Amino acid sequence: MHIQGDTAIFGALLRELDRQRRGLELIASENFTSWQVLRVMGSWLTNKYAEGLPRKRYYGGCQHIDEVEELAIERVKQLFNARWANVQPHSGAQANMAVMYAVLEPGDTILGLGLPHGGHLTHGAPVNFSGRYYRAIHYGLDEETGRINYDQVEELAHIHKPKLIVCGASAYSRDWDYARLRQIADAVNAILMADIAHPAGLIAAGLLQNPFPYCHIVTSTTHKTLRGPRGGFILMQEDFPNPRGLTTASGKIRKMSSVLDSAVFPGVQGGPLEHVIAGKAVAFWEALQPSFKEYARQVIANAQTMARLFQEKGYTIVSGGTDTHLFLIDLRNKGITGKEAEETLEKVDITVNKNMIPGDPNPPRITSGIRIGTAAITTRGIRQEHLPQIVEWIDEALRYRDNDQKLRKIREAVNQFMRQFPLYPQVEEDPWWQQAFAPPQT
Ligand SMILES: Cc1ncc(COP(=O)(O)O)c(C=O)c1O
Repeated sequence: MHIQGDTAIFGALLRELDRQRRGLELIASENFTSWQVLRVMGSWLTNKYAEGLPRKRYYGGCQHIDEVEELAIERVKQLFNARWANVQPHSGAQANMAVMYAVLEPGDTILGLGLPHGGHLTHGAPVNFSGRYYRAIHYGLDEETGRINYDQVEELAHIHKPKLIVCGASAYSRDWDYARLRQIADAVNAILMADIAHPAGLIAAGLLQNPFPYCHIVTSTTHKTLRGPRGGFILMQEDFPNPRGLTTASGKIRKMSSVLDSAVFPGVQGGPLEHVIAGKAVAFWEALQPSFKEYARQVIANAQTMARLFQEKGYTIVSGGTDTHLFLIDLRNKGITGKEAEETLEKVDITVNKNMIPGDPNPPRITSGIRIGTAAITTRGIRQEHLPQIVEWIDEALRYRDNDQKLRKIREAVNQFMRQFPLYPQVEEDPWWQQAFAPPQT
């Protein structure tokens, strides 16, 4: 079969590859998958409809798809010490939506970390389904310590009696006290869900607390510290009767596992993305290898070293440091907003995102902070010895943000530096890509 190059799309792909190769990727939610993960995602598995679950499908011809999905399920259970898993959620947001669809009725109360304090949109933000269909109450960080205010969680739980308490965050640099949260949840008869989208890889490596056995349900993405394809999953350790009292045809109370499975499909999704599930299976296998533990250790060491180097240059780190792959810089004492910092750093091919800090006086489009994560640069091969130079470039760029010549020099130095950490060299060696990029035949 002759591949007719779609030059418009392949051109954009090439330019994006070049951007990823030459820049320093410090966005905490991003990573670079392995070549193996990329290859299975770009495969013929995308052609197959497989509504339902392995061996219980609504379509014929699913025998090989079943092998793939069963492997993904077994591997993710092993990684997190879970006994039940659904690997079909298309994303972290879909996983959270499925859990809420399974355990709540519209109008029920949920309690989660507020967006301005590092929570995620799907934890009850007004612009999200979770804030619109449920009554969302939010806890926050203690402004002094930059850490979760567990006393406030307890107080709000007792006042509002939520059916679901959500822990986990998009921009929180500390580990969680799941045991305390479970006590709070039990006292008000709530279900406790941990959304480990960010630290999943670090938990899988055994470097942060596992939310099991404390959390009833765990959701996650697969593409952040876990370094897999873009996607989500849901886990449980112990099954339990569903709290909505839904029954089977024979009148028995349905188990939560069955209610969650049907919340994913047909509740909130259609056919599963089996090419992505294959990518998840490969990423889970990779995360089970001893080398992944080394990687996760390096991710945390890089984040802790970087946070300390920023402190040495007079930057304020929210909560004073990090246990994870990310930290937040409060830029107020530097006279620059998060938005200005993000835009300046983009000019030198360093990508970060602006982020609210606890008690932020600026609106979300401006913010007073930035979030920095080390999962992606660690995958590229960056180690502690490289970090003083990286922090120096960031500091210089922010200080000389009005000096275009200086910024150009920093960008050239960043690009030169990144050349020693090759990304996807297989592209140049792969005849298919060479053909796809070739000009169309006339
Ligand atoms: C804590 C948390 N939950 C859920 C999500 C949503 O994941 P996705 O973008 O895959 O829908 C994110 C993504 O940033 C997140 O940080």
